Amino acid sequence: MRLRPVPWQRAMYSPTVTSQNPAPPSSSSARPVLIDTDPGVDDAMAILMALASPELDVVGLTTIFGNAATDVTTRNAFSLLETAGRTDIPVAVGRSNPIATDYLGPVPQVHGTDGLGNASLHAPQEQPVEADAATFIHDTVAASPGEVTVLTLGPVTNLADSITRFPDVVDLVDRVVVMGGNALVPGNATPTAEANINNDPEAADLVFGADWDITMVGLDVTQQVTLSGAAIERIMAHPSPTGTLLAKAIPLYRSFFEATNGIDGIYLHDPSTIAYLLDPAAFTTNPWPLRVETEGFSRGKTWPNLGDTDDASPPAWRDRPLVNVCTGVDAIQVAGLVEERLTR
Ligand code: RIB
Ligand code: CA
Repeated sequence: MRLRPVPWQRAMYSPTVTSQNPAPPSSSSARPVLIDTDPGVDDAMAILMALASPELDVVGLTTIFGNAATDVTTRNAFSLLETAGRTDIPVAVGRSNPIATDYLGPVPQVHGTDGLGNASLHAPQEQPVEADAATFIHDTVAASPGEVTVLTLGPVTNLADSITRFPDVVDLVDRVVVMGGNALVPGNATPTAEANINNDPEAADLVFGADWDITMVGLDVTQQVTLSGAAIERIMAHPSPTGTLLAKAIPLYRSFFEATNGIDGIYLHDPSTIAYLLDPAAFTTNPWPLRVETEGFSRGKTWPNLGDTDDASPPAWRDRPLVNVCTGVDAIQVAGLVEERLTR
């Protein structure tokens, strides 16, 4: 894997509305990260965690459907940037539908009708950049070749769109980290599929088939990382804009896990990807070629080839690049890191 710190560099876009929040000074070794996201309560936690991490320089957000429709997740992206005082960070609007099908629809029972746990936030005033998400992803990585990490927290439709329209994006990116998929464990959207991949399996098969440095942070690890009820209480009580927002957003999400998983706590799906960027040693990965099922009742299932990766490989996996698939995690360490960053 090419996990290396890179010099700080701004993305080429700037917001179309004059910023109330000039960019704070950034560490010269902060790693530029573009986050593609469907906020989403756990997306909100991940983004606020990234913005609280001096090791990372968030150079833009691109939005996608998933937990809610794209217009809703875009509004939420701006709310999160306002909360963190980072309206200098550009937002680009992504696609409204998967590349080959229609959007499956929101999940208000998990993330609320507003996508943020029915937090009833005021409407943000900022406007997105003119470029769509796929163009923005390409142009951002092209402005700093080999330096930008692209992190996806929702369906990977925008990234697939970028590969299709701008094939050189594959060589320009430093690396890709995907929250999604399930290699050796059951799904959470269906018995076989994880929610982000299930929302656009065709896009995921394209993204996992591209020849770039890519890591899958899927249910194999994210369902091992639970933020306890006590830690949730501490985060929600923290006297900061982050604590105030999460105190409104987390309760519905928390009750979903209590009702469906019987736990007093929440799985840290999207925040685990930020932990992976900050502390990759807390994770174990396996280099496997991956296919994504696009047909039948296991549509959306990520299938690794655990066996031969040479010419003896079954045709469906032959010539596929290797994906770093996370299968192990120091769950205590990751949950502790998430709490520490959200209570800074
Ligand atoms: O399966 C978990 C993923 O689905 C997370 O990204 C969550 O936000 C939802 O999109
Ligand atoms: Ca998400």
